[in-house]
Amino acid sequence: MSHSGEQQTIHSYDGIQEYDNPLPGWWKWLFVGTFVFSIFYGMYFHTGAEKQRSVYTVYDEAVAANLRLQFSEIGELQPDNATLMKYVDDKRWLKVGESVYKQHCVSCHGPEAGGLVGPNLCDNYWKNVKTIDDIAKILENGAGNGAMPAWKTRLHPNELVLVACYIASLRGSTPGKARAPEGNEIGPWTLTAVAAEEATPVSEAK
Ligand code: HEC
Repeated sequence: MSHSGEQQTIHSYDGIQEYDNPLPGWWKWLFVGTFVFSIFYGMYFHTGAEKQRSVYTVYDEAVAANLRLQFSEIGELQPDNATLMKYVDDKRWLKVGESVYKQHCVSCHGPEAGGLVGPNLCDNYWKNVKTIDDIAKILENGAGNGAMPAWKTRLHPNELVLVACYIASLRGSTPGKARAPEGNEIGPWTLTAVAAEEATPVSEAK
């Protein structure tokens, strides 16, 4: 850049002087513009028209959409004994159950399901559960007068079944922090005869 003919500023520090080269007007206004924009965008982003447009919401929506895509592979799972017994050992689909658990259940049942506000879900003692499908029923309808929320309308039916399977699969694990046993001791999860007869092939749909 040539400085010939340009003015110098009037100050001089220890003999060091500088040319008077102000930023162009458009540049300054662009800067002011970004600032003004940020105020409105901030308001829009946090409280704006499409409510809750936070990164988390967008992420959750993307995950849910992805899940639904995967679910097309297994059809709609029924919250019955046979279906639960089938998926309780299915490592791949239990991952989906685990992610539902991490997202919605940790706050009350603890990161390893040893219990916090809600009971320990890893031991042999249960308050509302006798058979594996009771877990799905509790999830659908809640328990303890709402202390355990109902999830029927808040989870995809498959998420509900798979998180029930995940819980069932934790039985016998030893969480670091565990609440004392509550309720009655029950036997191992079994395929009940009635359920075996009634078993609908919905979950087999390919
Ligand atoms: C707001 C706290 C809270 C959240 C969130 C919560 N639970 Fe619970 N849960 C409870 C309480 C409290 C109970 C005990 C209800 C009772 O006393 O009968 C319970 C009971 C249960 C039971 C029955 C336990 C038994 O011994 O009969 C299961 C299974 C269960 N929860 C699973 C889950 C799963 C899976 C999730 C996540 C989808 C979840 N809970 C989320 C508080 C919660």
